[in-house]
Amino acid sequence: MPADMRARLGQAELPNPVLAAAGCAGAGRELAQFVDVARVGALISKSIMAEPRTGNPTPRLAETPSGMLNSVGLQGPGIDAFLQRDLPWLLSRGARVVVSIAGQSVREYAGLAARLSDTAGVTAIEVNLSCPNAEDAGRLFALDPQRAGSVIAVVRGSARYDIPVFAKLSPDVTDIVAVASACVASGADGLSLINTLLGMAIDPGTMRPVLAGKYGGLSGPAIRPVAVRCVWQARAAFPTVPIIGTGGVRTGRDALELLLAGASAIAVGTEIMHDPSACSRVLRELEEELAALGADRVSDVIGQAHGQAGGRVPRGLARRV
Ligand SMILES: Cc1cc2nc3c(=O)[nH]c(=O)nc-3n(C[C@H](O)[C@H](O)[C@H](O)COP(=O)(O)O)c2cc1C
Repeated sequence: MPADMRARLGQAELPNPVLAAAGCAGAGRELAQFVDVARVGALISKSIMAEPRTGNPTPRLAETPSGMLNSVGLQGPGIDAFLQRDLPWLLSRGARVVVSIAGQSVREYAGLAARLSDTAGVTAIEVNLSCPNAEDAGRLFALDPQRAGSVIAVVRGSARYDIPVFAKLSPDVTDIVAVASACVASGADGLSLINTLLGMAIDPGTMRPVLAGKYGGLSGPAIRPVAVRCVWQARAAFPTVPIIGTGGVRTGRDALELLLAGASAIAVGTEIMHDPSACSRVLRELEEELAALGADRVSDVIGQAHGQAGGRVPRGLARRV
């Protein structure tokens, strides 16, 4: 019998735990040519802001060993166009949509959350905290526990009670548990770990930075060990808080690693750019991994690497310990 793949993100139930990560599947239309969006656990939108934005100047993508750098920036149509055009299209296709929001002030986040609360069909809100705070000299909200917590508090206060709010954190901090703790204390229903790491590439030929914006976010397999570490630390600190694990997932085995570290679901990002059908392939491979372990339910493996019985120990795993 295939394992029960249902996953929970707070109050939301998903048919499976493999999501498309923010910014890597656009608004879903691009992905729909390759996969049935209704079969993706959920699609996390590109971060939506209050107003339309063009993003950063080009070049804004660079390949790096086992990864890539991007400085795309928060390019997008703004909340009005998203609600009028993109969200209805995704819902008409049977997709579950986690809406990622980003703002340059606490007020902007609050306004976005309020707009989403008036809209039917939002599975969860993911709060992208890797955004420059215009009221704090452009410092990212995610780098400061207090500022991150204040965003989560207003989003939780503005969002409808039945929409789970996930705080998406940056790994570019010395103590991710401190930021996670502030977000949980401010009402986050879950954590989304991790966003990209800040990196840079220089072209020795031109002796100049490769990206027009100089710095970019590093993603892909190169960052997976960082994601595993962050998920592990958050799970150890908050064993009951659901986590979306993101960072360098290419295969079902990579997904399993993040689940074992404590993620309740995982999101595939950069790999979608190499293989647009990656979400369905990773799900299939994860099902095979679980079958090999003798797990009846995907929920049985969540957090098992911590060695404490969070749930039943799958038969296969029990034989190994
Ligand atoms: C081109 C690109 C655009 C991204 N845009 C967003 C975004 O809008 N909001 C966000 O929270 N994360 C964004 N991310 C980060 C991803 O959602 C993910 O957290 C990160 O890339 C790590 O996962 P991966 O290694 O599987 O790509 C983006 C990543 C890439 C590569």
